[in-house]
Amino acid sequence: MAQYSLLNEETGEKTELPVKAGTRGPLGLDVGKVYAQQGVFTYDPGFTSTCSCDSSIAYIDGDAGMLLYRGYPVDQLAKQSSFIEVAYLILNGELPQKDELETFDRSIRRHTMINESLKRLFEGFRYDAHPMAMLCGVVGSLSAFYHDTTNNQDPEHRKIFAHRMIAKIPTITAAAYKRYFGQPFIYPQNHLDYCSNLLQMMFAVPSEPYHVDPVAAKALDVLFILHADHEQNASTSTVRLAGSTGCNPYAAVASGIAALWGPAHGGANEAVLRMLDQIGTVENVKPFMEKVKNKEAGVRLMGFGHRVYKNYDPRATIIREHCHNVLKHFGQENDPQMELAMELERIALEDDYFKERKLYPNVDFYSGIIYKALGIPVNMFTPMFAIARTVGWVAHWAEMVSDPTTRIGRPRQVYTGADIRDYQPMDQR
Ligand code: ACO
Repeated sequence: MAQYSLLNEETGEKTELPVKAGTRGPLGLDVGKVYAQQGVFTYDPGFTSTCSCDSSIAYIDGDAGMLLYRGYPVDQLAKQSSFIEVAYLILNGELPQKDELETFDRSIRRHTMINESLKRLFEGFRYDAHPMAMLCGVVGSLSAFYHDTTNNQDPEHRKIFAHRMIAKIPTITAAAYKRYFGQPFIYPQNHLDYCSNLLQMMFAVPSEPYHVDPVAAKALDVLFILHADHEQNASTSTVRLAGSTGCNPYAAVASGIAALWGPAHGGANEAVLRMLDQIGTVENVKPFMEKVKNKEAGVRLMGFGHRVYKNYDPRATIIREHCHNVLKHFGQENDPQMELAMELERIALEDDYFKERKLYPNVDFYSGIIYKALGIPVNMFTPMFAIARTVGWVAHWAEMVSDPTTRIGRPRQVYTGADIRDYQPMDQR
């Protein structure tokens, strides 16, 4: 294996950098001793070359456009598995046997209710609060409800937290939706599967029967599988950083929800639909692309580009195919936004600006079109993402707190502020 060291050419001082090799992917150079031995920091804003941990949950090969959960290619899981089975896999590391899956599924179904006091919290939000704002607040508030399982070092406590969090996030999300529309909350129905239950909590009303469309439930299930984890993305890293302090795990998940909300991350699905609305028609695509390429007022092609993928995001390929099937089922084959999105993609993939920068559609370019076809409003797109990603957040949090080598996450900085100076009394400033 190659040897790496850091040499101060002036003093000749050399620090050997131990190398960490994973199962796949580039080596990691351990720079942890550099400051102690040479008095310098390493500098990597945006963490483009920096690993923050060891993890065995997911693997991305950005050049090949590959995503694995616990070694299994995501396209195989999207075709053959279910969200609940994938959640089990991500949490436990192996695919379940039949009885293991049944036990897990039963436990998730039995934890779907939320405390009535928590439900009342929604009344405190202004009528037009963004559902992500409600999610941040209400999930954070879960930390005030479960004092029985706060020992992060106890595997049973971690398991109960994981099951509660995964089971309750659809109920909380549906409640945020109902609050936004001023409709009564609908209780979970535990005979329904995960996605059917979410749909009925969102779309049922007490005044008439509601039947879940199995195609809609299946479409959500596939989207959730594709969004379930993505290794050290911004929101997962946020959950890990918050969790590294030993804080309450529900509060750590709330911090992940806040990070997911941004348009550079999970908020991109909402931003894509707003962008398509703004472009309006296919004729406006070219002038819009010119604005993007000229970087006019920071205009970006939302749903394009990714820090890690320098090839097609494998999830985008699956979602695009899926999108056609869902639109067909709902009689929306000629959806104008789908046509617009495909035209944007076609133009971008032929354009040197995008080719040179290796910008391809990411997971969020087409997901919003599916959500829209299911009748889900635009401001609920990112909460949908949050439901799925909760599995990844919980698994990463558990992996981190059960790792004895975990230390508090505490980056350093290059200070560029004023140098030391004396306080001036007011009359001398
Ligand atoms: N449209 C136009 N240009 C882009 C785009 C885009 N969507 N994305 C990147 N670029 C350009 C940048 O302007 C930059 O160009 P330059 O070299 O001339 O300065 C170059 O490509 C590299 O971009 P960075 O911003 O340095 O890439 P980074 O890895 O930091 O950002 C990100 C990745 C945030 C995803 C970015 O591609 C982006 O803003 N995309 C749009 C938002 C989006 O879809 N986010 C969802 C990502 S997937 C997810 O989180 C679920």
